[in-house]
Amino acid sequence: MSPALIIQGLTKRYGSLTAVDRFSLELRQGTVFGLLGPNGAGKTTLIKMLTTLMRPTSGDAFIQGESIVTAGKRVRALIGVVPQENNLDRYLTAQENLVLHARLHGMAPRDYLPRIDRFLELTGLSSRRNDFPDTFSGGMQRRLVVVRALIHLPRLLFLDEPTTGLDPQSRRALWEQLRTLRSEMTIFLTTHYMDEADSLCDRIVIMDHGASLVDGSAQELKERYAHAHIYELELRRDGDRYEELFQLLPQVTSLERERDSFRIVLRDEESLKPLMDSIQSGDIRRICLVEPSLEEVFLDLTGKMVRE
Ligand SMILES: Nc1ncnc2c1ncn2[C@@H]1O[C@H](COP(=O)(O)OP(=O)(O)OP(=O)(O)O)[C@@H](O)[C@H]1O
Ligand SMILES: [Mg+2]
Repeated sequence: MSPALIIQGLTKRYGSLTAVDRFSLELRQGTVFGLLGPNGAGKTTLIKMLTTLMRPTSGDAFIQGESIVTAGKRVRALIGVVPQENNLDRYLTAQENLVLHARLHGMAPRDYLPRIDRFLELTGLSSRRNDFPDTFSGGMQRRLVVVRALIHLPRLLFLDEPTTGLDPQSRRALWEQLRTLRSEMTIFLTTHYMDEADSLCDRIVIMDHGASLVDGSAQELKERYAHAHIYELELRRDGDRYEELFQLLPQVTSLERERDSFRIVLRDEESLKPLMDSIQSGDIRRICLVEPSLEEVFLDLTGKMVRE
């Protein structure tokens, strides 16, 4: 089976800023792919190029073999897009928004009307179909944008932060919906929710400064970074003294403290012995090895400073 998406050295420059820097990727059909990265990493810029809303500075990408640079029209027929900002037509009702979209894709009413009914039902919006989007809550607008992206049966669905602003129920409902769609289409999403990427995506790329840092399943990424050797250590006494002492140990790369509990990241496997030697026997209440979460892998790779 040919790949659903091939990205080859895609680059976007805004003046002197390189927002996406020679990004390459190949996605198998039916993958749920998650693109993670801090604010400003280049996720939306990448999606805008892939969905033909923006021309790349250089490089190309192919959706079912069609170039985003030279075959924009054919690409647009193959994709569904949920942009980061809701872009519903506020002068059309929910139903009219969906019908317009279907007609722009050349669909006949007998094909789109049943789909519209089914999706509105599925997303709990049926009773609001004749209302204007401005009268919807943020989460309801989001759900409508997702429905709209699905009406024309895309082969590849792009979702830029689809669940930002959704309540936990709607988030989970959308995850369920995406899971059922995976047999019909490939899904490319961005998210800032690590639990979402963890539970939904078969493959994850963490990007920063326009480039990919790591690529793998959630489990692979966690295993690859498990060598970070994170320990939770609880002491019976002398927290202040030990804090100073741990800070001086060259084997300790990061230290967090809450009263007598420490979260210690060690440099390597051999670092455990010097740490243990520095503590008087009897002072340890509990020590355990912590498996890193996807969030820790993310912070480890992209740093802890807040972005623009
Ligand atoms: N139209 C534009 N003109 C100039 N610079 C831009 C433009 N759009 C984005 N940028 C810059 O490109 C970089 C990447 O932005 P982008 O929106 O792709 O990030 P992102 O990963 O989607 O971030 P977020 O998580 O906040 O949505 C940022 O430094 C941003 O300031
Ligand atoms: Mg973005």
